[in-house]
Amino acid sequence: ARWSKIVGTGSFLPERVVSNDQLARDLAERGIETSDQWIVERTGIRQRHLAEKGVTSSELGFEACVRALADAGVDASEVDLIIVATSTPDFVFPSTACLIQAKLGASNAAAFDVQAVCSGFVYALTTADSFIQAGRAKCALVIGTEVFSRILDWNDRGTCVLFGDGAGAVVLRASNEPGVLSAKLHSDGSQMKILCAAGNVAYGEVTGDPFLRMEGQAVFKQAVTVLDKVAREVCDEANVSLDSVDWLIPHQANVRILNSTARKLGIPLERVVVTVDSHANTSAASVPLALDVARRDGRIQPGQLVMLQGVGGGFTWGAVLARM
Ligand code: ACO
Repeated sequence: ARWSKIVGTGSFLPERVVSNDQLARDLAERGIETSDQWIVERTGIRQRHLAEKGVTSSELGFEACVRALADAGVDASEVDLIIVATSTPDFVFPSTACLIQAKLGASNAAAFDVQAVCSGFVYALTTADSFIQAGRAKCALVIGTEVFSRILDWNDRGTCVLFGDGAGAVVLRASNEPGVLSAKLHSDGSQMKILCAAGNVAYGEVTGDPFLRMEGQAVFKQAVTVLDKVAREVCDEANVSLDSVDWLIPHQANVRILNSTARKLGIPLERVVVTVDSHANTSAASVPLALDVARRDGRIQPGQLVMLQGVGGGFTWGAVLARM
């Protein structure tokens, strides 16, 4: 097979929806002031789904996989590769991919996690595509799943209002028809400090700061620059024009980042999939969640060209261009 192709998608969100107003009321009880108006104006976020305490990434990811496999008409036994993108794994080890494999009974699969924060899904999809193109796998589950609510400092209004929990998955299969056309990944570890959760357990003690910390404006500037650049790189590599991209599906961090990226690329907003309003930022889950939403509501049609983009902690970024 010359290509890998997305043949099914699925997603899963925890049931509990927390509106900005509800969150503002909850935070007010801790003496922290925020408002629906501030959050909507600065981010476009209106609500988020939050997992109940104890719910894990593998549980959300498993549900997304069940839906993706059903959509593809693929049995778990046919899956020979499972790659999970997450920064909120259930455990240090085993990997969340192994936990999902066990829940699915996908006993013929190799399973491992990748960690590239909000770029994680694009990293995982690129990895799975490379396995399939090299002939080392035929049918992969690629999953982004997160419970970021677990690593938020609920006393820091500058970050805790921005994130939500959820999972998305795709089935990627070897194909004789065009699927993934090009992919490009980047990192800049020298910028680690603008977005990190630098806590650790070492020698029986928790060291560092376990919560997510972010320099919002530095992340914003970096994100709009690199999303523009990498979009052009994947189009050049596939030898297609930006005009021919039917759907732009960027990482869903902030509607202002999405709008500014679309404007720079000359892609009309009607061709950008936006879910940040209802999901908030679900890190590695945001891109496969948005892809699944837009496939299921009929926007994305077979044969259309989609561009998936990730950007986040590391600093990391990347894009995948795929024919659906
Ligand atoms: N409610 C009310 N006021 C707030 C809140 C809040 N939730 N959070 C911050 N403020 C206040 C600040 O204290 C500050 O007050 P001050 O002027 O009295 O000091 C004021 O609002 C402005 O704060 P800034 O941080 O300068 O606000 P900014 O306009 O930069 O918006 C934001 C912050 C939304 C985080 C923005 O920088 C941003 O979107 N950055 C991009 C980062 C992002 O989206 N990250 C997501 C993760 S990264 C990723 O996924 C790629």
